[in-house]
Amino acid sequence: MATDLRRADQEKEAAARASLRFIKSGQVVGLGTGSTAASFIRLLAEQVKNGLLIRGIPTSVRSRELAESLGIPLTTLDESQEIDVTVDGADEVDPELRLIKGGGGALLREKVVASATKYLVIVADAAKQVPRLGKFPLPVEVIRFAQALVAKKIAALGADVRLRLQANGTPYVTDESNHIFDCRFGEIADADNLARQLSDMPGIVEHGLFIGMASTVLLAKGDEIVELHRQH
Ligand code: 5RP
Repeated sequence: MATDLRRADQEKEAAARASLRFIKSGQVVGLGTGSTAASFIRLLAEQVKNGLLIRGIPTSVRSRELAESLGIPLTTLDESQEIDVTVDGADEVDPELRLIKGGGGALLREKVVASATKYLVIVADAAKQVPRLGKFPLPVEVIRFAQALVAKKIAALGADVRLRLQANGTPYVTDESNHIFDCRFGEIADADNLARQLSDMPGIVEHGLFIGMASTVLLAKGDEIVELHRQH
């Protein structure tokens, strides 16, 4: 178990390192959230110290604090609505490069940043690759006012719906002050259709299905980096 965790950490760092070649001076760079994205932010900071000129747009308060602490110059979506490259992690990746994201609770800002990004690079350890999405519970961000109604509607689609809690038992609150449902669908037969159904549900701010967004996925498998490109 401890060895598996160590291997996963090494793979995360290897995938993050492999993504550095997508970053060029002068770019606006989206900074993802999660442990793999944090690895990327740390490696990017080293490049910045060595003269790389970029401005970052973080996808969470956590990533902003990390980037700031490491001296990465930052900008905001208010200043710049075009992001050249974003590097982010994922909870699951299927063969069509559809993703489940939001395990780290930042799916809303992550999707907004991804939607403004010309080239989205996903970095992940081998365990994230799946033949079909759905083993990982799908995170769905909801406004609190609507949460009971939304929970009922998602359950009617066949999911076991659980409000995400913090260690102290109180609900997890996102950077945009919403709550998150973790929805266990099991294998999702039609992810595109489910994404549409969730997007159409009033009260849901965003869901963790990222479809047609990733340009490239860098999967670290032991010492090897497998590069997957989305076919159009
Ligand atoms: C955060 C995310 C993360 O990218 C995802 O949870 C993967 O995290 P990690 O790199 O720690 O495995 O979507 O909202």
